[in-house]
Amino acid sequence: MADCASGPIRLGRALNPEEAINVADFERAAAEKLDAGPAGYFFGGACDEVTLEESVAAWRRRRLRPRVLAGHGEWGTQTTVLGAELASPVLVAPVAYQRLVDEGGEVAMARAAARAGTVMCLSTLATTRPAEVAAAAPEGRRWFQLYSFRDEGVTRALMDEAIDAGFEAIVVTVDAPRGGRRERDLRTGFKLPEGLGVPAVQAALGSERAVTIEETFALMEPALTWSGLEQLASACGVPVLLKGVLTEEDATLAVEHGAAGVVVSNHGGRQLDCSLSTAEALPEVVDAVAGRGSVLVDGGIRRGSDVAIALALGADAVLIGRPALWGLAAAGESGAHRVLELLREELELALALLGCSSPAELGEEHVQALPGGGLRRRR
Ligand SMILES: Cc1cc2nc3c(=O)[nH]c(=O)nc-3n(C[C@H](O)[C@H](O)[C@H](O)COP(=O)(O)O)c2cc1C
Repeated sequence: MADCASGPIRLGRALNPEEAINVADFERAAAEKLDAGPAGYFFGGACDEVTLEESVAAWRRRRLRPRVLAGHGEWGTQTTVLGAELASPVLVAPVAYQRLVDEGGEVAMARAAARAGTVMCLSTLATTRPAEVAAAAPEGRRWFQLYSFRDEGVTRALMDEAIDAGFEAIVVTVDAPRGGRRERDLRTGFKLPEGLGVPAVQAALGSERAVTIEETFALMEPALTWSGLEQLASACGVPVLLKGVLTEEDATLAVEHGAAGVVVSNHGGRQLDCSLSTAEALPEVVDAVAGRGSVLVDGGIRRGSDVAIALALGADAVLIGRPALWGLAAAGESGAHRVLELLREELELALALLGCSSPAELGEEHVQALPGGGLRRRR
């Protein structure tokens, strides 16, 4: 767990979100609240969790270069992503099975994101159907994360349901041809509780009963190709982002095959352990995309300064997975909302101290790597 420099919050009772000073407070409160099985599932990564730890640490090996006397008296965090005007460049990443940590689940998360003026990306493995999420937060901006299934009809049904419900982009996750080796789950024997399922997938499959995590992964298409992606993108009617890109080679192929952009992601360190951290991968992806699409990044973002570094390295926006989930687990909708607000406020302060009035003013000149501090190929 992350250390909190300002000391622990009071533990052993529900967290009042307004008392939380930073994301680490929510992390600690969520760890207190969750049983061992769900805690291992939501906190854990693959194998030795090298990439999980590294993804947080790598942002901390960059340093910001503030400029003074910039003459700004007002600062804002508003930005535009895929044509949507957002209050903050901190979006909610797709995270499966949210009703495991809070009975409001994805509905509460969508309301939190809508109140924060940002996008929620709903997982294929959501415990609530897209239409229900849309109806609960009609003013919110929503994207749908799609896993491709072996049965194209299932993939199509999932995509159509989301688009019909007003989801504005499809985020195709491509780093999971197989599920990663999550050793915490092997130790706890983690299983979904009886009756908790993924209703959109079940409806697309025509299944009456809840499908298990293992069954769901077995139904997914492990052999999606670039031409398959291109077909999907051309049939889709809304922008398609590719989530799980870590190299310039794949970033180039993504924009050449119809993607509107990429999400630089290692799935929160849950898939290939010892893969690159996203802070390391981001610059080469930004260079390869070269303005031909959007570049988003997730993994290990815990502070507004991490967001500022990501934007300075060329990302259009970031997504947070676990932090929003910790907020939801600790204090439901208001906890997730407070996490988003904390990061927005921290980013706004970082912008002011950097001499920038808005995210758009951040550039390469605002960030440098610590000497000897990384594996990076560039910057
Ligand atoms: C418990 C958990 C479940 C996740 N489920 C999904 C998912 O269903 N689909 C997906 O594309 N990514 C999924 N992710 C990955 C997140 O979208 C995101 O890439 C990652 O959490 C970012 O790292 P962070 O947690 O450090 O912010 C999941 C991550 C976690 C922690």
